[in-house]
Amino acid sequence: MAVMTAPPSNKAAIVDVKFPHKALVDRLSPGGRYIDAQTDVDSPWVPFGENAAIKHLAFDVRQNLFSNILWVKGPGVIGTHLHRGTITMVCLEGSVRYLEYDWTATPGGLILEVPGESHTLVTEHPDGCKLFGWMQGPIDFFDDQANLVDTADVWWFINHYETYCRDHGIAINPKLYV
Ligand SMILES: [Fe+2]
Repeated sequence: MAVMTAPPSNKAAIVDVKFPHKALVDRLSPGGRYIDAQTDVDSPWVPFGENAAIKHLAFDVRQNLFSNILWVKGPGVIGTHLHRGTITMVCLEGSVRYLEYDWTATPGGLILEVPGESHTLVTEHPDGCKLFGWMQGPIDFFDDQANLVDTADVWWFINHYETYCRDHGIAINPKLYV
């Protein structure tokens, strides 16, 4: 077999790949999918406090995994929270930093957060920030006296989405449940 240094075909044609377990995939796989994150067709912006909103993109209850875009609409703060899972985020617009760290995320930048970290998100950008997140595990939110107020896990995010849809007559989108 040749060593691959580039994709072996650049032909724009479907190749019938003989995957031996295709019947199982057809029967059991939830399937890949496309979620339109640019418009509200697949998912609405759901308010998250006065100055922020969340566009929910995916929920996986097996892995306590949730994906969304967090939009902080102007200069603002998401108060101190503690992660109990792994967070992968990409800054899409604006900029954002954490009081605990010495860097500022700008569009295209990747943010990785690991279990056990607590931090305080601040955006000073006039347009705030939009952050795409692929997030796993609960997030504990604290008040300014360090009292635990709520834990946001996949069930919290599903409830946040579904409550808004119910209250606004928006159909629940089954595509978001992976
Ligand atoms: Fe965080």
